[in-house]
Amino acid sequence: DETKAGVKGLADAGITDLPRFFHAPPHLLHGSPAAPADDPSYVFPIIDLDGAWEDPDKRNRIVGEIREASANWGFFHVVNHGVPARVVDEMKAGAHRFFELDVKQKKEYFGRDMTKKVVYNTNFDLYSSPAANWRDTILFHMAPNPPEPEQLPTCCREIVTEFSKEMLNLGDVLFQLLSEALGLRSNHLKEIGCLEGMDTAYNYYPVCPEPELTLGATQHTDTGFITVLAQDDIGGLQVLHRNRWVDVPPMSQGLVVNLGTLLQVMSNDKFTSVEHRVVLKGAEPRVSAISFFGIGYTLNTRLYGPVEELLSEDNPPKYKKTTIKDLVAHAYKQGLDGTSFLHHLK
Ligand code: SIN
Ligand code: FE2
Repeated sequence: DETKAGVKGLADAGITDLPRFFHAPPHLLHGSPAAPADDPSYVFPIIDLDGAWEDPDKRNRIVGEIREASANWGFFHVVNHGVPARVVDEMKAGAHRFFELDVKQKKEYFGRDMTKKVVYNTNFDLYSSPAANWRDTILFHMAPNPPEPEQLPTCCREIVTEFSKEMLNLGDVLFQLLSEALGLRSNHLKEIGCLEGMDTAYNYYPVCPEPELTLGATQHTDTGFITVLAQDDIGGLQVLHRNRWVDVPPMSQGLVVNLGTLLQVMSNDKFTSVEHRVVLKGAEPRVSAISFFGIGYTLNTRLYGPVEELLSEDNPPKYKKTTIKDLVAHAYKQGLDGTSFLHHLK
């Protein structure tokens, strides 16, 4: 039952020394330096989607910016993305409502079986992770077969459903723009199933007694097609860019888009999937709301590899083809980090 109280349970118990178990090895805490604050080449990219559907010149510019950010950063903010501000704000509020429930109420959702439609736990990747992370998570499998309404916690049932619908719409937009950025027909990525499987999650990072000794999330790359994330105004998400940690600045109405391993493979390395982590800096708990495209839907049996249309004599495939099922199986053995899977496909 102690585990079911999560990391939040430890924080609420008022511990003042971080348990050993959470101490991150020094190379993970101090491996790469922070980016210089005054260097404009380290400013996290923001892409304004306004006009993408009305104005062909704007669309060209937007597609160019997505190509550039996908190749050089593997990460970018989108604004004017069409998801109502109310939905983004209410979604983040729902994270507080869930994690701030009594343990008695939360433990009904507790589990380690990540194939269940709703799973609350702490350190879901504990057995394959290099260190325990200071965070709790609840994951909802929302597409293609969403849970029955009564399977979702009452405190966030409506908003998780509404946010997930908005994310599927935004995903449609993003996969069109990403297809064009690769030089493919707009519907290419959608037609090969990129929009079929989507999981939505909440992360909760309680206030930590010794934040400099641990991490909210150890550095990793995401494994699916893309991840779309809303963070609150506490901050702490960082991406590795030219070997320096760059802060992803909180942007209340911005959404963070992050390319996963599979999209890097499909682009044959034209696009990159980049390491990121969460450092703990808050005097208040931090929450994030995330939709992952293409990791939980293991019934998708298609083979994904470098897209044929992009290949030529000068651009031979750099990776073998794979299925989402293999990707997920690998992730549970080796850790939820796409880097080792990329090597495995070489
Ligand atoms: C992650 O990438 O694992 C979490 C990112 C976040 O919660 O901000
Ligand atoms: Fe991630």
